[in-house]
Amino acid sequence: MDLYDLTRAWVAKLAERASPSKGVLPHSFDAERRAALLYAQRFREPAPLFLRIAALLHDVERVFPAGEVRREDFADYDTYKREHATRSAEIARAFLLRQGADEALVDAVSQTISRHEHGGDRYSDTILDADSTSFFEDNFASYLAENGPERTRDKVRFMYLRMSPEARETVRGMDFEGALQSVFDEAAAGEE
Ligand SMILES: [Fe+2]
Ligand SMILES: [Fe+2]
Repeated sequence: MDLYDLTRAWVAKLAERASPSKGVLPHSFDAERRAALLYAQRFREPAPLFLRIAALLHDVERVFPAGEVRREDFADYDTYKREHATRSAEIARAFLLRQGADEALVDAVSQTISRHEHGGDRYSDTILDADSTSFFEDNFASYLAENGPERTRDKVRFMYLRMSPEARETVRGMDFEGALQSVFDEAAAGEE
């Protein structure tokens, strides 16, 4: 197996032990598929291997309960997200080194994951957009059901504000059902 397949197999194995509400799978695979597609569309070249591996592992810390980064431990959403990204990057780095991966690739994956919630370069920006559109399409309803409107508005605002203009347009074009649409409208209000 090459490194890409090894990473997919590891994510699938980890997902088995995570509670379904963490949504590690299919989210990780979906984010990777979207990121590869977006990158190819934007830059007219195939997504590099490190980007695909970073997309597969971007949320990996959620399946390691010891030391798990929890929203309630942080005063604001932003700090929580930075901590979550840093911890995922560290876990990804350790995994890749165990596989004997090339150091330059490990560094690139780790840097991309550590920036995946805030962006800052074309790779992390791509994962960020892929991650956000994936949330709105597949996880918005279950997130609201599980966390209630207030916390969902926080998350939606964070997701929406960080997206590129193109990704915002994609999300604005989505059809949300009743409660979702009002949470979305309130969160995104005034940000156009
Ligand atoms: Fe994340
Ligand atoms: Fe994610």
